[in-house]
Amino acid sequence: MTARLIDGKAVAKKLRAEYSVRIADLKARHGIVPGIAVILVGDNPASEVYVRNKITACRDTGIHSELYRLPSDTPEADLMKRIDALNADPAVHGILVQLPIPAHISLPAVLERIDPSKDVDGFHLYNVGALVAGNTVFPPCTPFGVQKLLEHENVPIEGRNVVVVGASNIVGKPMALMLMKQEATVAICHKKTRDLAQFTRLADILVVAAGVPGLITADMVQDGVVVIDVGINRLPDGRLVGDVDFEGVRQKASLITPVPGGVGPMTITMLLHNTIVSAERSLKLGS
Ligand code: GUN
Repeated sequence: MTARLIDGKAVAKKLRAEYSVRIADLKARHGIVPGIAVILVGDNPASEVYVRNKITACRDTGIHSELYRLPSDTPEADLMKRIDALNADPAVHGILVQLPIPAHISLPAVLERIDPSKDVDGFHLYNVGALVAGNTVFPPCTPFGVQKLLEHENVPIEGRNVVVVGASNIVGKPMALMLMKQEATVAICHKKTRDLAQFTRLADILVVAAGVPGLITADMVQDGVVVIDVGINRLPDGRLVGDVDFEGVRQKASLITPVPGGVGPMTITMLLHNTIVSAERSLKLGS
């Protein structure tokens, strides 16, 4: 078997076209333009790229965006003041603090300062709790993007064995919760897992977000597995690769995401989605 590729770029494009219509409708009927504020503290080169891509995607879709750049030695109190001002600004429906932030600033304190109703990343404890309880309005963007890809490909989830490799707050943990809600049998593995392959071989759906290039090889998966590679790793030779040995694993899988062009384009797309939902909720339209 050679896997069919899941084209995240194409799915993202289709969804963004739908969102543009939804945004135009919000403007025409209710006179509001969804708005997002992005705060970038410091000058992490990867964050610079991610933030630039987010701002461009907003512009292309019709979402108003504001970028606040703060120097890496910004006192925590100054960042909090900025968040407070954005919490109070009715033109801002989403607030995103790009991670990572400098070590002298408390991440939990920052995440909890954001008004949960504007927390389009879904990282505030309120929204984390809502996800655990199964009724979140802001699913974290990367696992949400994976869920949309699986839905787009009509991959059955209920009763399937899903193995998630990576237990981060941003990807692994929320991914597992979302798939549990869809009644999959979910195992979470991580860097301390002994004999990772004994788990990955059980997977009907394998989601890998470990940040280790080539971690998953063909001998570690069963025939017909659906493979979602969330990893983005830059090799010394400049190539961008995921966590999965793509050429080997694609020979056994039924579906697989490429890197780049798989999950990546979906993450920002889900940020657009959450910002639109937040704007709609500000009108009490719901969804
Ligand atoms: N850094 C890496 N991924 C993310 C994300 O989803 N949101 C934010 N705010 N920062 C990130």
